[in-house]
Amino acid sequence: MSVAAPQTVAHPLGLDPARVPRHVAIIMDGNGRWAEKRGLPRIWGHREGAVRVREVVERAGQLGVTHLTLYAFSSENWKRPQDEVSQLMLLCVAYLDGEAQRLAEEGIRLRVIGRRVGLPVEVRAAIEKVEAMTAHGTRAHLTLALNYGGRDEIVDACRALAAKAASGQILPEAIDEAMVSRHLYTADLPDPDLLIRTAGERRLSNYLLWQVSYAELFISEAAWPEFGADRFDEAVVDYAGRVRRFGKTDAQLGASGAH
Ligand code: IPE
Ligand code: IPE
Ligand code: MG
Repeated sequence: MSVAAPQTVAHPLGLDPARVPRHVAIIMDGNGRWAEKRGLPRIWGHREGAVRVREVVERAGQLGVTHLTLYAFSSENWKRPQDEVSQLMLLCVAYLDGEAQRLAEEGIRLRVIGRRVGLPVEVRAAIEKVEAMTAHGTRAHLTLALNYGGRDEIVDACRALAAKAASGQILPEAIDEAMVSRHLYTADLPDPDLLIRTAGERRLSNYLLWQVSYAELFISEAAWPEFGADRFDEAVVDYAGRVRRFGKTDAQLGASGAH
């Protein structure tokens, strides 16, 4: 009887698994400009963007990225023309309804962060359905930020903590970073390791303000509808080469680069 040698499965990009980001957050920007440049209505850019979401979710799984958090609609995006907002809401429902079954089958848990109150009832129903259908997924975590604002999130955490302090459940001096983190919408997610923004913009636009304090930033000039699996690979490879110091000196980090 021969004993098979342990199989080492090579990483698709040849990366050391310890250097693959566990959590990638993406500000999916540039849909409107992508469409306008082609003489198309902006919603076409959003639709093409939804196709990229599917591709990037799949690629993230292949690369060993277990958490993906995508900015789909900000608390400031309500300022857009009414017809663009309604079309975006319809697109969200179509995406959630269309992906629920596949995500559930693949063990991907989908959750939505942001203020539910304020979203149209059809969107809320679609969210509840897909969250319930994928609740048992443990292979990967896909989080969509919808009607999300980083400041809203911090305000909501402050309110929850203040209510607990006022009722005597906690002492104000017991509030520390870990407790604040547990009161954010992302309570059970690790902080993002890598934050990608597409379409060349160099700002956070109110995204995950607390959580990205030590994330590595990757700005892509490509608009989101152009950001396929190959571009995602590029960002992950770039991340793998970064040195994360977390305040230390290079000498303290040694050869590992603190990944
Ligand atoms: C990102 O693309 C999607 C949302 C904000 C909903 P944009 O719609 O912001 O595209 P640009 O930035 O106008 O090109
Ligand atoms: C950020 O993009 C929000 C999303 C990607 C959903 P925006 O296009 O709304 O950001 P600003 O307004 O250019 O900062
Ligand atoms: Mg934009």
